Amino acid sequence: MAGRIPQSFINELLSRVDLVELIDRRVSLKKAGRNYSACCPFHNEKTPSFSVNPDKQFYYCFGCGASGNALTFLMEYEGQEFVVAIEDLAAQLGLEVPREAYSGEQKHQHHDLFPLMAEVSKHYQQLLKTHPQAQKAINYLKNRGVSGEIAKLYGIGYAPDEWQNLSHLDKDKNQLQKDLIETGMMIAKENGHAYDRFRDRIMFPIRNRRGQVLGFGGRVIDQGEPKYLNSPETSLFHKGRELYGLYEMRHQLRNIDHVIIVEGYMDVVALAQFGISNATATLGTATTSEHLQTLFRICPKVVFCFDGDRAGKAAALRALKHALPLVKDTREVRLMFLPDGEDPDTMVRKIGSEAFKQQVEQSTTLFDYLIEHLKSQVDMNTFEGPARLIHLAKPYFQEIQDSVLRARFETRLGELSGLNNKQLQQVMSKTLEKANEINTDNIHPTTPPLEKPEPASPKPVNQANRPQTPTPYRRAISLLLQYPDALPAAEAKWLAEMTEPGAKLLYELSQLLQDHEEMTTAMLIENWRGRSEFPHLTKLATVELHSSSENAPIELCEIFKRLEKSYLEQQLDQLTQKSDTFPLTEEEKRQLKQLLKQL
Ligand code: UTP
Ligand code: MN
Repeated sequence: MAGRIPQSFINELLSRVDLVELIDRRVSLKKAGRNYSACCPFHNEKTPSFSVNPDKQFYYCFGCGASGNALTFLMEYEGQEFVVAIEDLAAQLGLEVPREAYSGEQKHQHHDLFPLMAEVSKHYQQLLKTHPQAQKAINYLKNRGVSGEIAKLYGIGYAPDEWQNLSHLDKDKNQLQKDLIETGMMIAKENGHAYDRFRDRIMFPIRNRRGQVLGFGGRVIDQGEPKYLNSPETSLFHKGRELYGLYEMRHQLRNIDHVIIVEGYMDVVALAQFGISNATATLGTATTSEHLQTLFRICPKVVFCFDGDRAGKAAALRALKHALPLVKDTREVRLMFLPDGEDPDTMVRKIGSEAFKQQVEQSTTLFDYLIEHLKSQVDMNTFEGPARLIHLAKPYFQEIQDSVLRARFETRLGELSGLNNKQLQQVMSKTLEKANEINTDNIHPTTPPLEKPEPASPKPVNQANRPQTPTPYRRAISLLLQYPDALPAAEAKWLAEMTEPGAKLLYELSQLLQDHEEMTTAMLIENWRGRSEFPHLTKLATVELHSSSENAPIELCEIFKRLEKSYLEQQLDQLTQKSDTFPLTEEEKRQLKQLLKQL
């Protein structure tokens, strides 16, 4: 008999699948704001009320209430059984479905790899200080101007030139090797043995927002190939999502006015060495929308710092494409270009931190750069030049979601091309319509792009859709489901002791997120499939919250504070009630004092 499919694998599947693509292959989707929409495949309708959210990896129909993640979609659309849907999805992604060994009592296993990674990181840091080979690593870092203090801040360590160094960690050996392979720290051989991935390298831990180590970048000392070896994609580490140095930045700075995005580990470290602690690096990948969204949650201004060479220019255009849909009149994106042959590390050493900061301040705004880029592509002194400029601007224009910026961009293009507003609007609104028509059959051509389609008739009759004032638990659960990143940093252990309806669920949800910060709405929900709460959670994942990724963390923080206060008050009540009839023990008196202080 096949054992159960591990939850971690199901999470993995959902983290890799692209719901938009999966659905689009069956039902043509059209971009509508940040989401995608179509006529709902689960009920009959003429105007689209089916919406797919790529961030949440969740779909929802405003007409019939159908909703769910990729697995739900396959089950409902293809009529597949749960396991078949998993196998189907895994096959599409080229993954094999693992099974837990079948044993009489099946234990639900949630294996936490973070403590191991923390230990590995500490181990490498220790080795930098004590290993006989480490002197050359220390010399190398010193030569590059990295102080002991900065090395410590960034947790820099050393992996010695040994094949089995990590096997010495003080852990159950069998499990240790398995876990080291799972985290990518060891590489498995066919004969059941394994060896350390990182050898004779300077180790940069990559940490998530909560400071948990997800993986490493290892630099060769001096010359060698590859210069940097990075952890592979694992259940903990996803390159396209993480930013190097973000945790350290937030640790050092209370107020972050703007973030500088650089290319390398050493750029982040060198800038910090020069007192510029607000830099972060992508991990050898281009900047993704996900990266930008993460950064905009921290501050409203992002400055890309590119090398001045051609690769830098190409990277700038890619960054621009990702940034355009996300800019708003309240958000700012700028670009700066270093002289050929320099990177932020060499540059700051050359000109010092004040001059570097000045260059950041004088960086080009996104739209100025875009316009200059467009102008550089055409000869504006010819009759055709300005027309061609409009043509080149169209794909960028389509990406702008903010109406104020879009209007301003349009005006600027008008000035440049000599078209009046009306003429230009005609050209550009055609562009938008065209973009919207692609992949759609039934949508009325004048339908403007909708963030959320209007409810279709007949109106939903679902009782649960009636507005009701949610309890703070219900509100917090909905917020967490829809904005998983908004989880307050402080662990809310006290929640476990609350007995109100929803408290247990909120506790479980926040625990799950503590351990897996990368979870999307789709992945969170999946952890409850088959349990009685599943339909409720699915509903809460789609209720209209009138919140945003900026507001959600603030609101959640407030709810948690309020709930904690009521928890403390309950505790206080219990103690004072007791003290009416019994004398309090010393311990209880101490608790009472503590509670009074906290309240
Ligand atoms: P760079 O070659 O610009 O690195 O690559 P750097 O940070 O300036 O390195 P130093 O100054 O020579 O030490 C930029 C980034 O690209 C990724 C790494 O994330 C690196 O920080 N990279 C580069 C790799 O992943 N592997 C490589 O072999 C090289
Ligand atoms: Mn460099």
